[in-house]
Amino acid sequence: MAPDTPALEAARLRKVYRRGAEDIVAVDDVSLTIRRGEFVSFIGPSGSGKTTLINILGCLDNATAGSLKIGGRTVFSEDICLSETALTRIRREVFGYIFQKFYLVPTLTVRENVLLPFAFFRKAEARTNPMEILAFLGLDRRIDHRPAELSGGEMQRVAIARALVNKPEILLADEPTGNLDSRTSDEIMTIFKDLNDKKHISIVMVTHEMDIGMCAKRRIHMKDGLIVREEVNA
Ligand SMILES: Nc1ncnc2c1ncn2[C@@H]1O[C@H](COP(=O)(O)OP(=O)(O)O)[C@@H](O)[C@H]1O
Ligand SMILES: [Mg+2]
Repeated sequence: MAPDTPALEAARLRKVYRRGAEDIVAVDDVSLTIRRGEFVSFIGPSGSGKTTLINILGCLDNATAGSLKIGGRTVFSEDICLSETALTRIRREVFGYIFQKFYLVPTLTVRENVLLPFAFFRKAEARTNPMEILAFLGLDRRIDHRPAELSGGEMQRVAIARALVNKPEILLADEPTGNLDSRTSDEIMTIFKDLNDKKHISIVMVTHEMDIGMCAKRRIHMKDGLIVREEVNA
């Protein structure tokens, strides 16, 4: 991939949910380009289409219309729709996913949770050292603990470690601080900034919290499924 190939390119994305006789337009004509190495947030109130959009960008959901390219490759468009196998591969090779509800496996230790992606798939070129990632995230003294023994911030850090083991190009985070207090939220944002600055991972985050969204270098504001405004740090 050429170094200037965008990480993500979306054109005229639209997602319509059918609820009974009613059509709900969750994402309405969204076009955007995210370059490699960017830290972008989508900020908007509940119901503005953030989760729907990030799920489409991360190939977890399909759009009703529009097109999406990931690393220059068309994932879907009017006449292209990749197979489920190809999509699964992109999900594993390109993305790391982080959610509001950490989704750790309660019966597994920190170490086992973080190694879980390797049980299904190990990206050949990744060669990450999970212990180094755990140390980077300040979890090296927690590796034999189970999720119930951890604080919320620690649980989210474990989820971040798990998202990192396969060396994703793009980290996608849907309300990553939604279950955390403000001090812990700031810690998670510091980790995101470090991952972006020092490890050059592209980050795409959605949040309804303005101060969290402001941590990203580029902020895209959403309302009613539309991009209404955008700002970038100088
Ligand atoms: N599976 C679904 N079926 C029907 N409507 C949905 C579904 N998911 C989301 N919606 C609707 O789409 C709109 C956008 O939702 P969502 O993307 O979850 O917004 P946000 O993450 O910003 O809160 C809302 O009106 C929501 O009710
Ligand atoms: Mg949401």
